[in-house]
Amino acid sequence: MRVLFLLAAGNTLLASAFFIPSTDAAAQRNFNTIFDEADQRILVAPPHQFIQAGPNDRRGPCPGLNSLANHGFISRTGVDSFVNIVAACNQVYRMGTAASTAAAVLGMFGGNLLDPTLPLSIGEPPSIIGLPGPLVAAPPTGLTNTHNQFECDASLTRCDLYLCNDSHTLQPKYLEPLLDMYTADPSIANSVAIVSQHHANRIADSIANNGLFFFGPVQMIVGAFTALQAPSLFANYSAEQPEGFMSVAGLMSIYGVSRAASGTLTWTRGSERIPDVYYRRPGPLLNQWDMPIILPQVLQMWAQFPETLSIGGNLGTPNTFFPLDLGAFTNGSYTLDDLQKPGGINLLCFLYQLVQILFPALLGNVDDLLAGVFAEVGRVTEGVLGTFDCPRSMDAVNMTMLNQYPGWVKSLPKTKAALPTDQSYMQQSHLGRSPLEVPV
Ligand code: HEM
Repeated sequence: MRVLFLLAAGNTLLASAFFIPSTDAAAQRNFNTIFDEADQRILVAPPHQFIQAGPNDRRGPCPGLNSLANHGFISRTGVDSFVNIVAACNQVYRMGTAASTAAAVLGMFGGNLLDPTLPLSIGEPPSIIGLPGPLVAAPPTGLTNTHNQFECDASLTRCDLYLCNDSHTLQPKYLEPLLDMYTADPSIANSVAIVSQHHANRIADSIANNGLFFFGPVQMIVGAFTALQAPSLFANYSAEQPEGFMSVAGLMSIYGVSRAASGTLTWTRGSERIPDVYYRRPGPLLNQWDMPIILPQVLQMWAQFPETLSIGGNLGTPNTFFPLDLGAFTNGSYTLDDLQKPGGINLLCFLYQLVQILFPALLGNVDDLLAGVFAEVGRVTEGVLGTFDCPRSMDAVNMTMLNQYPGWVKSLPKTKAALPTDQSYMQQSHLGRSPLEVPV
């Protein structure tokens, strides 16, 4: 199946969100020759000085987005448009356009699909003042409330929602071991392995403590991708270490934590801060953190720590993890072995096809809007979109197989309960249905 990016019609939305995966060799870059002080220095002077978020500013589970808001690279209110968020991720941290677009598309589960600029709250629900009538009845939830849509269990530093009733507050006890590992070895060469180890530990912890732990196919992949952002985007790519360095002080600053003389680690909401002298990844496309780099990193994570490839969940009590039979779930299209094939094309295609199956309403609804948005994304990021070939197709999945997992089932009602009772606006709207109606 050949997928052409930026086709105007049909289910091409997520295709637009991916670059061509190249060979693993593309990940073996050498940044030494291309350090560029002017291009890589993150300028945090006014108007991008750090200002701690106020109580009415939205902040959520993503330290990257929180830091962008605290520096005014996106609105300091924490509510900004799809394009601005993608552009800021690309320009400030050099997250590739494809990766940031894909993240922002998933983020739209907490966003406002009735507004052509596709505003998204990076945290709590946005104010309903000024929202069109239908959204007052079914307001955007904000990223914080996208559990099992985007936000998921076993995060690097956040607790599982059904374990702590809070999955956006940083828990120092989860960050501490990660800091310890990077303190012991801050070289970039091992940074993926270290975060992978931590990710594996967090999954084991969730299995051991959270009876409602759920790690479906989407959650497993989101968990891997978001974990890998820390070493790849929070590292300091300075002249001295142009290939990157896991600056523990930098990591703490961007995560918004400080250490008291007693050694106690404290997180303060809205304090995620980019250090005064810090360097982003180099600018050329192949150095940006995008699919040609992400896919090999994910494969490396799975190879070294196979438990990070766990798809399934607990059955209501701790330590009852029951794997999902991926072959049966995908009607034979993919097995776990297929996902691990070198190059990552199966992984990319599986994710792309799965998202199209699971999120048809979201994709269908925003396709027209996003055609325009993508043109704008390409303009502001000078991004290049391309094509990729999927060796195999997947047309349907057996969603009922997920009902054996109580953590999944518990996350479903919120989408239905939040629906307005009067849905007459749906027929009038070009969107057709509420964003909150989308089953994931
Ligand atoms: C459109 C852009 C983005 C969106 C919508 C987004 C959204 C999210 C969400 C929902 C999570 C929570 C996932 C979970 O529950 O485990 C998350 C986690 C994370 N994000 Fe982002 N993100 C974006 C861009 C970025 C960028 C640019 C960075 C880094 C510079 C970043 C770094 C991270 C990290 C490190 C985590 C793991 C947090 C932890 O548990 O410690 N994200 N992101």
